[in-house]
This record gives sequence, C-alpha cells and structure tokens, in this order.
Amino acid sequence: MSAATSRLPGFQRLSPAERIAKLREVGVLHTAQAEGLEAAGAALTGTVDHLVENVIGTLNVPIGIATNLIVDGDEVLVPMATEESSVIAAQCNGARQCRAGGGLQTDTSGTLMIAQVQLSDVPDPVFARAEIIARRGELRDACDEVDPTLKAVGGGMRRVEVRLIDAGAPDGVLLVVHLIVDTKDAMGANTVNAMAETVAPMIAQWSGGRVGLKILSNLADQRLVRVRGTWLLDDIGGPEVRDGMLRTSRFAAADPYRATTHNKGIMNGVSAVLLATGNDTRAVEAGAHAYAARDGQYTALSRWEADGDGNLVGVLEMPLAVGIVGGATQAHPTAKTSLSIMGIRSADHLTRIAGAVGLVQNFAALKALATEGIQRGHMKLHAKNMAMMAGTSEAEVDAVVEAMLEDGHVRVDVAKRILEKLRG
Ligand code: MEV
Repeated sequence: MSAATSRLPGFQRLSPAERIAKLREVGVLHTAQAEGLEAAGAALTGTVDHLVENVIGTLNVPIGIATNLIVDGDEVLVPMATEESSVIAAQCNGARQCRAGGGLQTDTSGTLMIAQVQLSDVPDPVFARAEIIARRGELRDACDEVDPTLKAVGGGMRRVEVRLIDAGAPDGVLLVVHLIVDTKDAMGANTVNAMAETVAPMIAQWSGGRVGLKILSNLADQRLVRVRGTWLLDDIGGPEVRDGMLRTSRFAAADPYRATTHNKGIMNGVSAVLLATGNDTRAVEAGAHAYAARDGQYTALSRWEADGDGNLVGVLEMPLAVGIVGGATQAHPTAKTSLSIMGIRSADHLTRIAGAVGLVQNFAALKALATEGIQRGHMKLHAKNMAMMAGTSEAEVDAVVEAMLEDGHVRVDVAKRILEKLRG
C-alpha cells in the first residue's frame, strides 16, 4: 500500500485515533492494522502522544529483566528493552558466571557535558583564545544564570577550553570554544545548548569572529564510565575457553571490522538499558563509536586479559551520558518504572549499571564466539519462538525445540509437524 499523497495538512492537530482514521482514508492502513495500532497505543494514550509529533501508536519492544548482576557490591535487577532474542538470556548467563568473582566494579569521571561554540573569520585566533580564557569567569556567570536550578543542586559551568582547528579552504582556522558543564542528573543536552546560545554573542564580540554552531558534542569524553569484572577460571570453563576469548579480544583490538561487531555486542547491553529508561540511545552510540576511534584507528572499547591467578578480567571504558530527569525518562511511565526497579539514585548510578551490562554482554558474546559459536544459542532462541508460534505449550516447548534443532530446520511448519507427532 502506498499513499496517493504524503501531504496531510492539519495532521498534527488530530488525535491519534483521528490520525489512524486519516491513514485509512488515504489508503495506507486496512482495518485490522488500524485496530492493531489502536490496541498497542491505547494503554499509553495521554502520556506518550505528546512526546513526538503525529503519534499514531506505540511500538511495543519487549522489556525483560536481566538477573544475577552485582555492581559495586549491590545486587541489581536490570530491565532491558530489546528486540534481539539472545540479549537478555546472554546477560543473565554472563552475570551469573561473574558472581563468584565479585561482580562488576565501576568508576566514572563525573557528569560533565561539552557544548561547542564555533567561530570563523577570527582576525587573531591566538589572541582571541587568550582573551576568552581570561574572561572565563564572565562566561561561567552567564552560563549559570541559564539554569539556576542546576546551580542550586551543585551543577553548572565548570571549565572553558578553546581549540583552534584548521579546517582548510574555504573556512580556514576555526576557533571552537568548549563549555564544560556539570549537568548532574540530566543528560544535559537542552541545558548546554541553551548555555552555548547565551554566551555565543559574548564570544563573538571578544574574538571579532562570526558565530557558527552552538550545540553539544555527543563525544562526551568527560563523562566516561570504566567497568572492570573478574570471571573465575573454573566458572567460565577453564583455560581453553579463556584463551579463546583472549584471542577474540586481541582480534577486535587490531581490526576495525571485528571491533565494530565487538562494540555492537557491548551496545546490545548498554542501549537496551538506555531504551528501557527512556534515554537517548543514539547519543550514547555516536559517542561510543567516536571514542573507539579517538587514536585515529577504530578499535575495541573493551580489553580482556588473564590476571595473576589465571582468571579472566575484562575492562570497558566508554563515554556514557544519561539522564534520570527531563525528557522521556520522567514523561514515560515505563521508563520511570525501569529506574525504580533498579533503585537508581542518580544519573551517575545509571551510567555505572549500563556500563556494567555492556561489559557482561561483551563477555557473553566473546564466550559464545570462542566456544560453540554464536549461532547455536541464537538458533535455540529462534527455535523457541517458532515453537511458540506453532502453538506449543510451555510443557512441550523443550521437546519441540530439541527435535527441531536435531532436524536442522527451524521453521513454524516443522514445529507444527513435530508437535503433531508429539501429541500422537
Ligand atoms: C550480535 O548482536 C552481537 C555479536 O555479534 C557481538 C560480537 O560478535 O562480539 C554476537
């Protein structure tokens, strides 16, 4: 079905139900689809239909609870929102194997966000840089006036950095001012953008340059999380498994093609926690991948090694800017529930848990890759999905999955055939 026209004047003024009716009218929805959208969206009407423009429904991604995790000595149950069937099972397994090693230990570099103010055509960039640094107190005062609430809770503008970037022709040398702001429990995009806009005219006047962009940087490299975990040799299956995982890790460190997939596995965990808590997954993903390339070659965000006792140790370092106030984190009831399940005390606390989940997810992927391969586990879950679609009951599911894997064909029709045989 394609629309006769994509011009829908006044569409934004309609209610979700009226928009669905409109889509039926222009021929891109049939009745069953319209009913499906209405049913999926109904539960949240009045809460999420103001989050974005032109809402017609919601996409219900499953949220599962990841068990077994210990972060900084605390037991934590983690809601993860993901459409990928193996992610939560892998998380539970990986975290269970880490318990005897004490779970995950984390550290963060604070909750500092960066806003950029770009200036071009600055007559004397070196002089301008000195002038801006000298007048940083004025910049701090102007920024802090933008968000007095932030200041009251101990946040606010912390530092000014000025960079000169030779952009080549036709732009020449750019003067880029970084406002470094402690945004505390907010992810901080709106706050730092407003600060950048406020001080841009001051910087233009002092430097004699022309203002360009005024916007945060998603390369949040002053908002890093570091996670470390020890998996005891006996709990992971011995030295052969460990050495296979170390080889896999070294491959990712050396090759950008492998590093991309390795990091994707980490983000399977991190992004699922972010999505469940209404955080901006794209912001963190962009920052993570840029950070992975900070030395000029894209590499793995984590490293794995053996400790003095032969145990497996993993370390992850990445930027992770999240919020627990503002945006969807508070507007979306499910996001609020997710925060509550984890007992989140601050944005910094959420950062630590999301990072820990990322490292565990990485462990699970490397272990699967170094042992049975990733496909077996995936196929098992896929087979379970097919079995359920074929009408298998909980009591029958293990037998149907096993028979399907043995058969080598994982499809609904095969599941149906096995089920009929099983039931005689
Ligand atoms: C799949 O979503 C993620 C993995 O490919 C990650 C990896 O290869 O490390 C399993």
